[in-house]
Amino acid sequence: MSALPNPLREGLAAERIPEPATMVIFGASGDLTKRKLLPALYSLTRERLLPGRFAVIGYARKQLTDDAFRGEMRAGCEEFARRRPVDAELWDGFARNIFYQEGGYDDPNAFIALRERLEQIEKQLGLPGNRVFYLSIPPSSFATVVRNLGVSGLVPPPSAGPQAHFSRVIIEKPFGTDLATAQKLNRDIHETLTENQIYRIDHYLGKETVQNLLVFRFANGIFEPVWNNRYVDHVQITGAETVGVEGRGGYFEQAGILRDMVQNHLFQVVSLAAMEPPVAFDADGVRDEKLKVLKALHPIPSSEIDAHVVRAQYAAGSIAGRAVPGYREEPGVSPTSQTETYVALKFFIDSWRWMGVPFFLRSAKRMPKRATEIAIHFKEAPRLLFGRRGEGIRPNVLSIRIQPDEGISLNFGSKLPGPVMEVAPVTMEFRYGSSFGVEPPEAYERLILDCLLGDGTLFTRADEVEASWTWISRIHQHWQEKAAAQTAAGTVEPLPSYPAGSWGPEAGDRLIGDGGRQWRRP
Ligand code: BG6
Repeated sequence: MSALPNPLREGLAAERIPEPATMVIFGASGDLTKRKLLPALYSLTRERLLPGRFAVIGYARKQLTDDAFRGEMRAGCEEFARRRPVDAELWDGFARNIFYQEGGYDDPNAFIALRERLEQIEKQLGLPGNRVFYLSIPPSSFATVVRNLGVSGLVPPPSAGPQAHFSRVIIEKPFGTDLATAQKLNRDIHETLTENQIYRIDHYLGKETVQNLLVFRFANGIFEPVWNNRYVDHVQITGAETVGVEGRGGYFEQAGILRDMVQNHLFQVVSLAAMEPPVAFDADGVRDEKLKVLKALHPIPSSEIDAHVVRAQYAAGSIAGRAVPGYREEPGVSPTSQTETYVALKFFIDSWRWMGVPFFLRSAKRMPKRATEIAIHFKEAPRLLFGRRGEGIRPNVLSIRIQPDEGISLNFGSKLPGPVMEVAPVTMEFRYGSSFGVEPPEAYERLILDCLLGDGTLFTRADEVEASWTWISRIHQHWQEKAAAQTAAGTVEPLPSYPAGSWGPEAGDRLIGDGGRQWRRP
């Protein structure tokens, strides 16, 4: 395929430069700041996408000087930035406007000290007072920090009306652990912020290939007419990872893969793949349509949850020839844990477009291959024209590879060369790497830039988060009730397991196999 300009990047450098601003990062001593946030800001500087006047203030409990913080951030960029080594001259200019402020998250006085420091830096650098607060902190502190932003005057109260300068807050995941906690968090932060000041991060939306779902569907005339129940047999969504819980056993025990990957990342992918065309490609236009998909997810009656939702845990096994322990042996994980590291779901979307089309979604840790993709399986063509020679006919599959090896492929039947009319399956491929010759930017670069520009399209809105929790929380509730009943009866059944390095339990294959279908091997 020929190299066309990437429509998602068109005009980006020329038109999308945000106003001068300061970004305050709460949780500045954490991993995300060093691995993702500062490298993203550095890349944006390198690509001249940040405003000329821009400052960063790291905020955390740890005691650090500005210089020590700059040193840590430079080390982070040397290790994790997209283009390395770090350009010394560029870094010096960038680092001059990086500062550090020590303080707790629940101490209003520390926030007043932060405000004073911020005002002083804004004055010194001639910054107008536009502010982005990035909450890269434990979720239990989200509401407290937002409240303190208001109390300390770092963010003006909603009653103050429209302001000359913006104050925006980026909130990391997870946003709640179920419907009730997400609703409470929304209520709490809405006391200080209006919805258009809130940018809930889902880093999947920052991935180029996820955004390309919209371009693919709505910038091409040929796919939309077949993107419905008349032509689509079923849809498969896979979020497979080879990694285990990577030292995050304590967190994962409380989360499980359904919360960690499905409720947020994969449901965002589903909503983009299944939504109707938006009236405009803007924050509300796109999110209104995504919301309709999430609201139209058919609620699975609790009596059917076990038949539609398969969960399992990885046991010891091997990944790429290396022996790895089972989930229950990971640090921070209970030896009797009932937390799922694999989940497979079958669900339906109650809309005119998707009525009757099953969606199969699976996500797991410790699979043989890292692969995130969405595959549209079309209905089979009748074989009668080809008789036995048509045995090679397979239903067409359009698969959109989100990562790695980003691209799109379409399988179709072709005539085998030779004197007889035999059909064999072949594939037509588009690969990002070879077509555009550039590596896609990091999700965080795009998301930070969009927030600075005030574009919320790629962030999740309060109602989307709640709609997605509404559906997911029913499953958790069913699991909880089942666990309670088993405990009461003294008959706790361990979750089914799958060896690390396999494609999951047999029950997952049966879930999709009942209709004669099978999981794709990505
Ligand atoms: C995070 C999850 O949100 O996403 C991790 O907490 C998961 O458990 C990660 O590994 C996957 O992100 P990516 O970009 O590597 O697919």
